[in-house]
Amino acid sequence: MEIKILPSLLLATIYFYGAHSAVFTVKNNCGFEIWPGTVTGAGSAPVLTGFDLAPQASKTINVPAPWSGRFFTRYQCSNAGNKFTCVSGDCASGQIECNGAGAIPPVSLVEFTLGGANGQDFFDISLVDGFNLPVSLKPDGANCQTVTCAANINSGCPSELVVKGPNGDVVGCKSACVAFNEPQYCCSGAFADPSVCKPSNYSEIFKRQCPQAYSYAFDDKTSTFTCPTGANYLITFCP
Ligand SMILES: *[C@@H]1O[C@H](CO)[C@@H](O)[C@H](O)[C@H]1NC(C)=O
Repeated sequence: MEIKILPSLLLATIYFYGAHSAVFTVKNNCGFEIWPGTVTGAGSAPVLTGFDLAPQASKTINVPAPWSGRFFTRYQCSNAGNKFTCVSGDCASGQIECNGAGAIPPVSLVEFTLGGANGQDFFDISLVDGFNLPVSLKPDGANCQTVTCAANINSGCPSELVVKGPNGDVVGCKSACVAFNEPQYCCSGAFADPSVCKPSNYSEIFKRQCPQAYSYAFDDKTSTFTCPTGANYLITFCP
């Protein structure tokens, strides 16, 4: 799902700006260093766009609601020649901060609209642009569901979707949309309609392993979650 900034939300942003702030904790449970990044949607206040997490380290970020944006992570990064680049999830900014640039797919995305309709936060894990690392999202609000994509989809990724690093290891698994850029996989053109664009044999590989995550653009029914605005969130990579 692409984040949609509705005109009403834009107005609400102007009206309620600064009314509430959610605390996001981003944790690295991977056995290696990672570099999470964020992208803020149009009309939302920017937050820290990139940072480094050693294994088991975590970082908290205050996010003013209403806010729309995404979290993802990069790994196998280096700063050779003073230019920061990553084998997986790179945002091509040349720095640890992504500065508004999104990650180059395939990348697992955690998407938020904080302070949305009916006093709710909306969130999901999206594999619409493919997968690069497992991730989970835990709201601290009462009766709010944790969303998890814990499977390592890189192992068992079909060869036509695989992205390999310089060591030959699989560092990401493209969605069929990213790999083939065809309307029936991207739900574009004649397929830009939920009644026409259906799961594919490729999207089903992702859905089988991560049933709570978006596996294609119109996977809303089983992949969008809500929590009353005011919750704080824990994002864990390699949960
Ligand atoms: C998916 O289906 C296409 C044709 O519909 C076929 O070419 C491809 O091999 C299938 N891939 C997998 C992984 O099942």
